[in-house]
Parts: sequence; structure tokens; C-alpha cells
Amino acid sequence: MDKKKFLIKTYGCQMNEHDSEKISWILIKMGYSETEDLQEADFIIYNTCLVRENAELKVYGNLGALKQLKREKPDLIIAVCGCMMQREEARNVITTKHRHVDIIFGTHNIHRLPQLINNHLKTGKTIVDVLEDSREIVEDIEANRKYSYKAFVDIMYGCNNFCTYCIVPYTRGRENSREPENNIDEIKELAKAGYKEVTLLGQNVNSYGKTLKREYDFVDLLRDINDIEGIERLRFMTSHPKDLSDKLIKAYGELDKLCEHLHLPIQSGSNKVLKEMNRKYTREDYLEIIEKIRNELPNIAITTDLIVGFPGETEEDFEETLELVKEVEFDSAFTFLYSIREGTIAAKMTNQIDNDIKHKRFQSLSDTLNEISLDKNKKLIGETLEVLVEEVSKNNPDVLTGRTRTSKLVHFKGESELIGSIVNVSIENVKTFTLEGSIV
Ligand code: SAH
Ligand code: SF4
Ligand code: F3S
Repeated sequence: MDKKKFLIKTYGCQMNEHDSEKISWILIKMGYSETEDLQEADFIIYNTCLVRENAELKVYGNLGALKQLKREKPDLIIAVCGCMMQREEARNVITTKHRHVDIIFGTHNIHRLPQLINNHLKTGKTIVDVLEDSREIVEDIEANRKYSYKAFVDIMYGCNNFCTYCIVPYTRGRENSREPENNIDEIKELAKAGYKEVTLLGQNVNSYGKTLKREYDFVDLLRDINDIEGIERLRFMTSHPKDLSDKLIKAYGELDKLCEHLHLPIQSGSNKVLKEMNRKYTREDYLEIIEKIRNELPNIAITTDLIVGFPGETEEDFEETLELVKEVEFDSAFTFLYSIREGTIAAKMTNQIDNDIKHKRFQSLSDTLNEISLDKNKKLIGETLEVLVEEVSKNNPDVLTGRTRTSKLVHFKGESELIGSIVNVSIENVKTFTLEGSIV
């Protein structure tokens, strides 16, 4: 008999992407095989995100579209998991308006999936299994990774920061660091399997180690990973400016595998807004970090996240964000329209910003950022950069794509056999979001 097939659709951040790799591993162990074709799937899983409203609406829209498929294929199993399912309101929407969903689980109990499937098959009922929070780190789940040369590794879970706009602490629970040995052993295995690049994941990696029983922090972990033979590139996501230590800044100058890239979300350039956001640093603190890190590594790429239209943001506040962006000269940035998330502190603020104003500011900020990105990229013309070859371009089978150590996307001609190897590319042409060149 043919193996039953599953399809996972992932919304949201790298944490969710990596969780989906774990779910995939669990299902393969259960005897399923993976498909990307919705029509041939026997089991469809949506791994959801609710960081902004549009992420949530996408999930409901796509779920609605599965109703007909389920009618045609009554044996089809549909599961919904991830951050949305940690919220009772969202679970209620699913159980009342999307009754074709068979299994609901959350972010803390992925390991229980085999039991949940069996329960559903035995009873035919909708199974709902969500843990509010968990102190337990389950170590016996592996991951069926999407790539064979770069890997995500969870070094910690949860978030304690409660930025007033953000729902993540309510879906991922409290901060909890994985034991150093478990991280290191996992990365040694990855190195043995030929992986060249690892990205360490956590909502605030700078506070790694705080829940450990011994003195061991994020930089200690970076040092230990830097010693692992075979791994050539080390990245991490995400850093919080309030916890970024001088020790980490120094490590940038010392650890050869640590890539010259720092993603450091600032969110706003106005001290008043930063305070209302509960970010616990000022624009001056942020600028000081940038200065120190550029002293250590002048060519480091700095990227960020920015929110426009946070409650009470005035034109002057927004101007301060624009000024800060020009001062720092970010290599690139993710910009978001502030989105009300029920259950957060900012959702109750009464001075919400009009949508038209939000969109106008968003456009103006994007234009400024894009201009800076293009200017920064232009300076790279004529340079030879080290690139990890990642994929064949979706638009042109003769072109490969890869990333520089500074995390910039590069297009160049080459054979697909090069995927997973590190090559040198001479940069000839640049756009706002990509570089183009030839292998030398
Ligand atoms: N832990 C990471 C990222 C969390 S979510 C960090 O602290 O940087 C990723 C980004 O989504 C955030 O940096 C923020 O810019 C954005 N974001 C979070 N909640 C949001 C909201 N309610 N509206 C708009 N953007 C939001
Ligand atoms: Fe959200 Fe702030 Fe935690 Fe990041 S640090 S996940 S923005 S609460
Ligand atoms: Fe990530 Fe979205 Fe959850 S950003 S942590 S998947 S709410």
C-alpha cells in the first residue's frame, strides 16, 4: 500500500518553520511521506502565526478553502497548530466556524502529535490538546530539515519581555534555555552530516543561559559552537538591544565563524514610543551599540525591524524614526504597520493611529530604507564576496542564488552541483534587495 501523505503549510517566523521541520520528522517516523500537492495529501497541517492581524486572516481564509476538499475526501485529516492555537479565542473560531478541522494542538506539545492522531482515528472526534505553558524541554524530537547545508537550531524557547504590542509571550510562554550540551551535540551532528551554516533561534538570544543552573551565557555558547569542525557560518536570531552585551560585541571581532551580520530590531526611533512599547532602551543606547559594533567590525551588515503607527505615535515621533534610520544606515529592514493584538497592553491604548496615516508613514519609511539599501549595495560593486550557494533561481534555471556572510542575496550563473558549497562571487550589478555577479 502507498504511504499516506502529509502536507504542512507554515505561517510566521523561523521558530514556526523549524517547528514544522520537527512535525515533519514525527510524521515520517509514523510512516507518512511528505507532499507539496494539496490534492494528494491525506493529512494537512497548518502551522499558524498571529503576530499581526493579516497573518491570522490568511489562516482563516485558507482553512475555509479546505472545506470543499474535506467534503470530497472525508478521510482527509486536517490539523491546525502553532501560535494561533495558544489563544482560546482563535481555538473557538476554529471549533465553531471551521468544524472540518480534526486536530488542534499548540506550540508546547508537538511531541504528542502521534497520540493525538491515534485518538482522532479511534474516536472520529475533533481533538483539542493545548498546554498553556511548559517548563519542559522535550529533547527527543529531531527535525526533517528543509535544506541540507543550513539549519535552524532552537537554543531557547519563549519570551519574558512583554513588549506592549506583542502577542508572542502569550503564545510561546516563558523564556527557557536549552542545555548547552544539547545545542552543541545537535550542531556536531549537523556538522557530521555536512551542514555548513547554523542559525541559532530564540526570541531574545542575548538572554540565553539565564534559566540554566550554571554560569553560561550566549557568548559562551557561540564560542563552543565556533570550535565545531565543519560548521563554517554561525548566525542567530533575534537580538534584543537591552540585553546585547559588550562581550558579544567583542566576540564579533574574535570568532571567525560568526557572520558579519546583526539583526537588531529597534522598532521606533522615538524614546517616548520606545517607552510605551516597553522596550527598555533609548535611541541613544541603540546608537551606542551600533557605534561599538562598527568599531569592532566596520563592514558588519545591520538590519532591523520597525513598527509604524504604534498608538500615540505623532508626526514628530515618526520623524525621529526616519532620522535614526538615516543615521544608522541599515542594510535592510522589515517594516510593519502596527496591528492591534487582543490581550496585549497596547491593544487597550485609546490613542490608536488612523489607517491612512499609518500607510503614509509606512510608505515614506520604506522609500527611505530602500534608498539606503541601494546605496549600500552600490558600494559592493567590484568586491569579491564569499557566498554559500543555496538554490537554483525560480525565474531562471541557469542562475543560482546564495547568501553572503552579511546575509545579502546574490544571483550568479552556475551549475546546480554547487548547491551547498561556498564560492567567491565578484559583484558586478546591484539592486535594492539583491546583488548580481560571477563566480571567480
Ligand atoms: N523576538 C523578536 C521578534 C518578534 S516578532 C524581537 O523581539 O525582535 C517580529 C517582529 O514583528 C517584531 O520585531 C516587531 O517588529 C513585529 N511585531 C510584533 N508585534 C507586532 C504588532 N502587534 N504589530 C506590528 N508588528 C509587530
Ligand atoms: Fe515580542 Fe518583544 Fe518578546 Fe520580541 S522581545 S517576542 S517583540 S515581546
Ligand atoms: Fe513566530 Fe508568529 Fe508565533 S512570529 S513566534 S509564529 S506569533
